[in-house]
Amino acid sequence: MDREISLYGRVAYIATGEFDGEAAVLKLSWTSVDRLPENAAYEILLRDGVEGISAIFKRGLLIEDFGGFRLEYTIMEFCGEPFSKTILAIQDKRDDDTFTKAVKSIVNQTTACLVNAFASGIVHRDISDGNIAVQYDYYDDEAYARIIDWGYAKDSIFKSKESVEVGEKWCYDSAKVGKNEEEHDPFTGTPRYMSISTLFGASFRNVMADIESIFMLYSTHCGRSISSVA
Ligand SMILES: Nc1ncnc2c1ncn2[C@@H]1O[C@H](COP(=O)(O)OP(=O)(O)OP(=O)(O)O)[C@@H](O)[C@H]1O
Ligand SMILES: [Mg+2]
Repeated sequence: MDREISLYGRVAYIATGEFDGEAAVLKLSWTSVDRLPENAAYEILLRDGVEGISAIFKRGLLIEDFGGFRLEYTIMEFCGEPFSKTILAIQDKRDDDTFTKAVKSIVNQTTACLVNAFASGIVHRDISDGNIAVQYDYYDDEAYARIIDWGYAKDSIFKSKESVEVGEKWCYDSAKVGKNEEEHDPFTGTPRYMSISTLFGASFRNVMADIESIFMLYSTHCGRSISSVA
């Protein structure tokens, strides 16, 4: 499958299938050795029990450094369809109140995930429609949202002892990677969902930018359909 290589030298290949009888997704990613590996972001999120991320079945590093790039794989739980697709389906099948309840629940789950990730030092920096996967249980009328694709994440507490240990485990230099991010956050994300400060080229980003993107997503895909999610 042909994939575009992003400005930041990152390309991912996705395949869906089954792993131990569960619906699963295999992600193979080439990323710059100067950036935080996605598996390292998952290591930190899983270590701290951050909810609202995909379950990970298996992951590993295949190539540590090939001309400045690393190849890693992650086999994870299939977390559902992109936000807008699930939202449209719920809107079609359910009344306004049930739809509003589902949207509120998705906004709550995803913002809680981002805040808890930030408490562990992680900022996602690529909140978009495709990176919020949602499953809806039409029997119990419950929405389950997962934030996926932590491939542009940064570790904002990279100097901590724990982060240095994660660097050792995943074979990257936590101080060097962290310093790159400290100098200037890269311009990552999808323009229509980016925070205003990101669009204006802010050199520093924290969880506020990610949360703003959640509300951009909400207002783009459901803003006109419901009265309030406050
Ligand atoms: N665990 C998952 N559950 C459901 N769908 C997934 C999962 N992982 C990936 N996908 C689907 O595959 C798409 C691409 O995956 P992902 O976003 O991780 O890769 P990427 O190449 O880093 O992203 P992008 O396409 O945003 O550059 C997602 O937008 C989503 O639709
Ligand atoms: Mg993505």
